[in-house]
Amino acid sequence: MIIAIDGPAAAGKGTLARRLAKHFGLAYLDTGLIYRAVGMAVVRADGDPNRPETAEKAARALKPEDLEAQDLRSDAAADAASRVSAIPGVRQALLAFQRKFAKNPPKGAKGAVLDGRDIGTVVCPDADIKLFVTARVEVRAERRFKELRERGLEAIHGRVLADMKERDARDSARPVSPLEPAKDAYQLDTSELDADQAFAAALGFIAANHG
Ligand code: DC
Repeated sequence: MIIAIDGPAAAGKGTLARRLAKHFGLAYLDTGLIYRAVGMAVVRADGDPNRPETAEKAARALKPEDLEAQDLRSDAAADAASRVSAIPGVRQALLAFQRKFAKNPPKGAKGAVLDGRDIGTVVCPDADIKLFVTARVEVRAERRFKELRERGLEAIHGRVLADMKERDARDSARPVSPLEPAKDAYQLDTSELDADQAFAAALGFIAANHG
């Protein structure tokens, strides 16, 4: 069983993906982390994440342990990820790793949940279940703002909202694998839902659509 979850930042994909993976006994891959690791590898080497040659080299050199780096949740990593992810050669280099995880999940799991931007459209177009999780940008920025504050980090509300809009625009407008729902995806708007309600809605959809 493969569950593909796509959607913009802070829509609730990660929380939902983890809960579904636990519920069904599936492996979980946060594909955003892969792009963040490539972006930070470029930044750490003082490179420009917009430059194809540098970013493609970092993507080809990526090792599984790079996904454990401590700084991948930072805004700097999110920004670098959004830039390297617009480069076709980077996406191509990371495709095999993601597909292998979906087909042969680690630790003998009987399937996988992958979340990202193009899982249902490009990485796993034959996924058994496709969810597209969204929420209004103001709601997503508010969630992100609270999360940063809870982690003790400085955050300015207007800045978080502006960054979120900029990243949405970049992820949606890029010519390769833009952020868009697969035609057969179930669209789940979490603007008015908490994590439990989003989980219940996803389970309801899966029960109705997966033998
Ligand atoms: O989900 P996230 O915020 O960790 O993703 C960081 C960036 O990586 C996001 O701005 C777009 C990119 N990304 C992508 O292009 N394709 C994916 N499957 C996952 C993430």
